[in-house]
Amino acid sequence: MNIQDAKFLMSNSRVEECPAPTLPEYAFIGRSNVGKSSLINMLTNHKGLAKTSSQPGKTQLINHFIINNTWYLVDLPGYGYAKVSKDSRVKWQRMINFYLRKRENLACVFVLVDSRHSPQAVDLEFMEQLGSEGIPFVMIFTKADKQSGTRTQQNVVDYIQKMEETWDEVPRHFVTSAEEKTGRDEVLDFIQEINR
Ligand code: GTP
Ligand code: MG
Repeated sequence: MNIQDAKFLMSNSRVEECPAPTLPEYAFIGRSNVGKSSLINMLTNHKGLAKTSSQPGKTQLINHFIINNTWYLVDLPGYGYAKVSKDSRVKWQRMINFYLRKRENLACVFVLVDSRHSPQAVDLEFMEQLGSEGIPFVMIFTKADKQSGTRTQQNVVDYIQKMEETWDEVPRHFVTSAEEKTGRDEVLDFIQEINR
C-alpha cells in the first residue's frame, strides 16, 4: 500500500473526545520505549510525525493520525515503565481500558515487543487480556536491527513457543526495524487486507 498522506489529527485522554469512529483504526501499544512512535514514523515515511524519545514515557495521550484520508493510526502511551508512579499507572490503565473496549472502529491492535528480549510477563498478561475480551490484535517484534537476523529469528521462535503453551492459535506476527524499514510492506499490506 502507498501512503500518500499522513497527518496528525489530535491528542486526547478521553475516548469520547477521539475523532468520530467512522474510519477503520489501528492502535500501537506495548512497553514504554519499545518503539511504537518510531514505527508509526517509519510506516508513514514521515520522520517526526509521532514524537519519539530515548527516554521511556514520551507518549502520554491517545494520538490520532489520519492516513490517506481513509484510516487512522493511533499512538498510545506505553506500559511497564518502572519509574512511573502508582497514580499514573492507574490513570494509564483506565484510559487504555476505556479506549480498547469502547472504540468501536478499532480494526486491530498492534502489540509491540522488543525482539531482543525473552517473553515478559507484562506483555503476556496484556495479550491474555486482549484475547479474553475478543479484541483483535497482532504482534510486532521491534528493533530487529539491534542484533543479527539469526538472533532475532531465534527470539521470535522462543516467544511463539512460549505463547503456544497457553494459546490454541498463536497471533499473527511481524518483525520490524524502524531504522532499516524492515517489515514496512508486510505491515502495510496487512492493514490494506483488513481495510478492504
Ligand atoms: P513511549 O512513547 O515512551 O512509550 O515509547 P515508544 O514505544 O513510542 O518508543 P519510541 O518510538 O519513542 O522509541 C524509543 C527509542 O528507541 C528511541 O530512542 C528510538 O530511536 C529507538 N528505536 C525505536 N525503534 C527502533 C528501531 O527499530 N531500531 C533502533 N535501533 N532503535 C529504535
Ligand atoms: Mg511513544
